[in-house]
Formats: sequence, structure tokens, C-alpha cells
Amino acid sequence: MYKCPICHQALIKGLHSFNCINQHNFDISKHGYVNLLKRNSKHQGDDSTLVKSRIAFLKQDYYLSLKQHLNTLLAQHKPQVLVDLACGSGYYTKDVPSTITIGIDLSKDAIQYACKQDKKNQYIIASIFDVPLMDHCADVITTIFAPSANEEIIRLLKQDGLYIRVDPGSHHLLQLKETLYEEVFLNPIKQIQHPRLTLKNTIEVKETITLNQEDLLHLFNMTPYRYKTKVESIKKLQALNTLEVTIHFMIYIYQKN
Ligand SMILES: C[S@@+](CC[C@H](N)C(=O)[O-])C[C@H]1O[C@@H](n2cnc3c(N)ncnc32)[C@H](O)[C@@H]1O
Repeated sequence: MYKCPICHQALIKGLHSFNCINQHNFDISKHGYVNLLKRNSKHQGDDSTLVKSRIAFLKQDYYLSLKQHLNTLLAQHKPQVLVDLACGSGYYTKDVPSTITIGIDLSKDAIQYACKQDKKNQYIIASIFDVPLMDHCADVITTIFAPSANEEIIRLLKQDGLYIRVDPGSHHLLQLKETLYEEVFLNPIKQIQHPRLTLKNTIEVKETITLNQEDLLHLFNMTPYRYKTKVESIKKLQALNTLEVTIHFMIYIYQKN
């Protein structure tokens, strides 16, 4: 199942480390994750402020309906092996109904937190564009609010395996954007175009949540808006006691053909 990031031979999980036939050894951290990022890699995942905000926000279960839709969908397919690419802090990974679940993310902070919350599943620090898993090992791959590593997904999926992808819907966080910016656009909707991935079904999840000031700021800090908002607009947000916000998700179910 696991693949050595150096020589690409099978990597076997031992008590304290993952090891391959060529004596490449990777320690299992005290929390249970393994770092299989290429040693010269300069990639980094989300920084700790972003990860902390996302953890604090998700803890309040504002996105529970999305998680429930995903788990209902997965329960129908009963995957043997599920790989969650860009799993972040493991909010969606933790409870998926699969026999073996592996979460992959670049962010050490996020993976560390995921491991502390979830002793059942295996978490790995690695890039989703260079996944240390063998070809055709996965029945289902999920990617939730993250880039789509299409070629790796095709390589990892078994024939007829499913790729379940979640993107923001057109109205996701509209009122937050209206508070921050004078001109607001709806989020663009784009589906994956790949000759080996056929879109089988789309599920739309849309509801309104009411956020208190603290959670509103956590939400702001976990979005890309954090990097492109003027100080005056942030002050406007900080002055709000509460805000009703639309959450809108698109779940796309693709099958590898
Ligand atoms: C918006 S977060 C979503 C996390 C999680 N799926 C969730 O919804 O809670 C995007 C995640 O993608 C990760 N990420 C970005 N680029 C990556 C890459 N090339 N390889 C692995 N993880 C990556 C970030 O570290 C971050 O945890």
C-alpha cells in the first residue's frame, strides 16, 4: 500500500517506523503520523494561524451537514481503502465509513492535530501531487476544498473507483464577502475535465448559519480573504456581534473509467 518516496519500493509499517527493502526508514511520530515528504521538498501546507482558525471553526460543527452528506454517500459504497487528499486537520477524515483510511496533507500542524483526534486512521505528511502510495490502491479518493491532483488520483484509484470532490458553491459565504468588499461576485463553478474521470452525480448542500463574533473571525482567518482584505474592512467585521451566512457546497462524484 505505502510507497517509499525515495526508491518507490514498497514501504512496510513497523512498530516505530516505515521501512523499505533499500533501508530507507521513516520514523513514526509519537502522535502516530509519518513524514514522507521528499527530503529536499520546499513545499509547506497551511500555516499554523490558518490551521488553528480552521480547527476552532470546524469544532463548532457549522459544516456538519456537509460531513453527514459525505458519510451517507460513502456508506453506500463501503470502500475498503479511502484516501483523503489534503485532509487538513482531519475533520472529514476521522469518521468516514471505510475499512482503511489514509489522510495526506503538507501541513505538519494540521496532521499533528488530526492524529491527536484520531488514533484509528493513518495520517501522512506528503504532497498530494506526489503521493507515497502504490498504484491502484484506493477504492475512493476524497478532496475537500483543495487543489485537484488529477494525475495522482488516476494513478491511485482502482478501475471504477470513485473520486469525491467538494468545492464551494456559488453562494458560499456571500454575506461575509458583502461585509468585506464593495463589489461582490458569486463563486465560479468549475468541474473537472479529465478523459479518465466521468461525472456520475452532483449533490448540492446549502443552508444558513448564524455566527457569533469569535467564530466569524475564525472563519475569516481560514479563508483566502484573510490575505486580500483592507484593514478598514477587517475592522468592520470585528465590530459585528453576529452574522447570518450562507454555506453552499458542491459535492461532485466522479468515476475512473
Ligand atoms: C482549505 S484546506 C482544506 C482541508 C480539509 N480538506 C478540510 O476541508 O478541512 C486545504 C488543505 O490543503 C493542504 N494542501 C495544499 N496544497 C497541498 C499539497 N500540494 N499537498 C498536500 N496538501 C496540500 C493545506 O495544507 C490545507 O490543509
